[in-house]
Amino acid sequence: METGRAPIYLDNAATTFPKPPGTLQSMAEMFSRVGASPGRGGHAMAAEAERLVGETRRQLSSFLDAPDPDRVVFTSNATDALNLVIQGMANPGDHFVATELDHNSVLRPLHHLAEQGRITFDLARFDDRGFVDPDEVERLIRPNTRAVVVSHASNVIGTIQPIAELGRRCSERMVPLVVDAAQTAGRIPVGLTACNASAIVFTGHKSLFGPPGIGGLVLHPDLVVRTTRFGGTGIDSRSLEHTQDYPYRLEAGTANLIGILGLSIGLDHVLQTGVEAIHTKEMALLERLRDGLSGLRSVEMYAAEDLTDHVAILAANVQAMSPQDVGAILDRDFGIAVRVGLHCAPMAHRRLGTIECGAVRFSPGVFNTEEEVDRVIDAMSVISH
Ligand SMILES: Cc1ncc(COP(=O)(O)O)c(C=O)c1O
Repeated sequence: METGRAPIYLDNAATTFPKPPGTLQSMAEMFSRVGASPGRGGHAMAAEAERLVGETRRQLSSFLDAPDPDRVVFTSNATDALNLVIQGMANPGDHFVATELDHNSVLRPLHHLAEQGRITFDLARFDDRGFVDPDEVERLIRPNTRAVVVSHASNVIGTIQPIAELGRRCSERMVPLVVDAAQTAGRIPVGLTACNASAIVFTGHKSLFGPPGIGGLVLHPDLVVRTTRFGGTGIDSRSLEHTQDYPYRLEAGTANLIGILGLSIGLDHVLQTGVEAIHTKEMALLERLRDGLSGLRSVEMYAAEDLTDHVAILAANVQAMSPQDVGAILDRDFGIAVRVGLHCAPMAHRRLGTIECGAVRFSPGVFNTEEEVDRVIDAMSVISH
């Protein structure tokens, strides 16, 4: 059925769309002026590219409250950054703690190392409201625990974990906390000090409004992460040893300059709009959606009764229908884009009892409108009738 109306994008937890007005134009304008490989070649354009990259490191270090811009490391996304930090910290015999809410970008690197017999790991459970208990995380810490890795906010049910308290418990036990801020950076305040964290992983293409292909992490100066990828850095090229100076200790090869420029432009937008204003707007839309859906008898929502300490993510199912069918009808008949399935977070779905088919995830963004949310409620009303 052709609705004749503009499509509604409610899949911002996967990647934000659209990007703020002017983002692509600014990226194109900057990249057509400065397209050299940053820091390589010793010519003026390479130096200018390096300056812009350094500027973005400074911008991110200030945004994520990291004391040293050189400890801002660029990767291709959050997955890449999580692989880098987990594999760069793990030593044979180490133990890690993660949570049932974590994304496969945490669970799979841990599982891979465990399969090889190099590490063991435990997962902290979450309660019926969707929160991990710091007492439980602390109980899981062992003398050989190398790090605790936690999704700051669940990408399935949106709950924001008590990260400062988790960080406090970790630092008391001298265990580094790695925060996966893929769903929070740009939406709620995230900082190394506020989280009592040793590392914060971010991705560019979600709430920082950059393009896909850019992400990274910020590191506390006390955290040592081994180099696990080796190659050209443009410095100390005579040596076959990869430099141990940050950030190039963890970066190799030609940088994603256009991605870094896009991330910087996206972050400018976040700073101009204000994290709090973005979160407030998104949560108002989520609440409207939750309230609308709660009037539909055959719609079940997960961990959505109280939206305190949530980001704008809502998982739901329609009784006797698969989420895949619901998503297909929303898309085909109503032009509404949502994400169905397991959302790369199988343990979360196992705990919610939805491991077979997953759920329908609605994730409004700052560019959605109340009118669009009302159309989604109307569509769900028709589907669930
Ligand atoms: C909580 C969480 N962690 C990590 C990731 C991975 O992010 P990326 O796709 O940028 O690697 C995602 C993406 O959906 C996520 O939601």
